[in-house]
Amino acid sequence: MNRWRFTLVLVLGLSGMLSAGSFDRNCVPCHRKEGVSLRKTFMNALLIYSGEHNMKAGLKYFLRHPSKETSVMGEEYFKNHRLMPPSTLSDRELEEALDEYWERYKVIGRLR
Ligand code: HEC
Repeated sequence: MNRWRFTLVLVLGLSGMLSAGSFDRNCVPCHRKEGVSLRKTFMNALLIYSGEHNMKAGLKYFLRHPSKETSVMGEEYFKNHRLMPPSTLSDRELEEALDEYWERYKVIGRLR
């Protein structure tokens, strides 16, 4: 690879890492590791908390205070899965992540 091409790839790679939003940094890695689909949790959440405002407010609370009783995953799910650990993200990071989550998956919600 020539030197300029290498520099370009490096710069693009680094800027991609820095510009990754709160959602990609704070939510996606753990969900991938745990094998919990963010698409499926979105659909469950959308059905239970109706509307954007309720869903964001409800999830913001849940992510900080997870409990089986208030989870959208249903009793069955917890027979062989554990609850997520409480989030320690700041208000800003959490709200940013939820805004990105909504923007990314709302189309799927509309399609079904
Ligand atoms: C440390 C791992 C981890 C992190 C970090 C994490 N999650 Fe989760 N999340 C889980 C697991 C495991 C579940 C399934 C069990 C549960 O609902 O508690 C879950 C469940 C959920 C659910 C379903 C909620 C419910 O009512 O049960 C939503 C929505 C969700 N996550 C979104 C997010 C968002 C958005 C973020 C980033 C702000 C995030 N998660 C960060 C592991 C994580």
